[in-house]
Amino acid sequence: MGKSYQTLGEFIIDNQGDFKYSTGELSRLLSSIRLATKIVNQQVNKNGLVEDILGDMDEENIQGEKQKKLDVFANETFIKALTQREVVCGIASEENEFFIPVESKHNSHLSKYVVLIDPLDGSSNADVNVTVGTIFSIYRRVTPEGTPVTLEDFLQPGNKQVAAGYVVYGLSTMLVYTTGHGVNGFTLDPALGIFYLSHPNMTYPKDGHIYSVNEGNYVHFPQGVKDYIKYCQKSEDDRPYTSRYIGSLVSDFHRNMLKGGIYIYPSGTTSPYGKLRLLYECNPMGFLAEQAGGMATDGYQRILDIDPSDLHQRVPFFCGSENMVKKAHEFMSKYPDDQIDYDELKRIKLSGEK
Ligand code: AHG
Ligand code: MN
Ligand code: MN
Repeated sequence: MGKSYQTLGEFIIDNQGDFKYSTGELSRLLSSIRLATKIVNQQVNKNGLVEDILGDMDEENIQGEKQKKLDVFANETFIKALTQREVVCGIASEENEFFIPVESKHNSHLSKYVVLIDPLDGSSNADVNVTVGTIFSIYRRVTPEGTPVTLEDFLQPGNKQVAAGYVVYGLSTMLVYTTGHGVNGFTLDPALGIFYLSHPNMTYPKDGHIYSVNEGNYVHFPQGVKDYIKYCQKSEDDRPYTSRYIGSLVSDFHRNMLKGGIYIYPSGTTSPYGKLRLLYECNPMGFLAEQAGGMATDGYQRILDIDPSDLHQRVPFFCGSENMVKKAHEFMSKYPDDQIDYDELKRIKLSGEK
């Protein structure tokens, strides 16, 4: 990973040809995300200096979770950047109950893309100066262009993603993304405000020695997960593995992709389906994981093939080095009753709406 002087802006334009019939719309959209991340980065960096950006809001978000001021700032920044520049026809955010349709004021032809976003991931880490992130996911709308977007445009399986990425606001700020042609990472030069290609063609090691799970919830975990954790801790062959858990998915994922490891957020804790959101967290991270040669599943099946039933749906998440995820599956498969039937969930959801 030598020093490169290729900027993110140049990289986006140079690789535009990966898309047949590209009109530059996706490039403009990615450039807007790049702009928003620089603004959020500025705020994250001066976290301790700015009195009114630290701490909790009085409100809760749609998931009933306490919103941080930084959550709200990041959410507003991304929404503003994407709507004012008219690079999307709709946005769904972890922080908003409903999706936001974008209507064109300037362009007669509005973009055909929708964005789903977790504007600040791991936000509870912000108060203690620990790394946070942003996760984004981009789809082509399925309803006709020129009409207002509908829920259908957002409830697409992850295998339909056109691009996905994350930003990690760490010791240095990095933007990592894929358009389905591998994964590339860019590091922000804070003095110049420019992202440079620092990690071309990122790949997950096939094996790893790190497992990342919030073990405080152990008693609530399904038996398959408990058994797998015991396997990780056993002194045999190249084990016990190292346990590492930051509590911000972006950072845990980033470390595991670079070093080799598995991240697990199982069912049976805060909700029967785990905590992580399919659309804002698991699908984009799943797309990146697969593009980097890793795997992302719910312990039984591929995350990207799940047919979503709700904007804020949660799913169990197993993600990381291929051989580690496969090993975890061996333990999970002994408990087939714990497997979730997503089609059934969707049927229940749809019948409830009638
Ligand atoms: P968010 O800050 O967007 O709500 O996400 C937090 C998520 C994820 O980033 C992290 O891995 C997980 O919550 C940590 O949850 P626990 O504190 O339950 O381990
Ligand atoms: Mn999150
Ligand atoms: Mn968040």
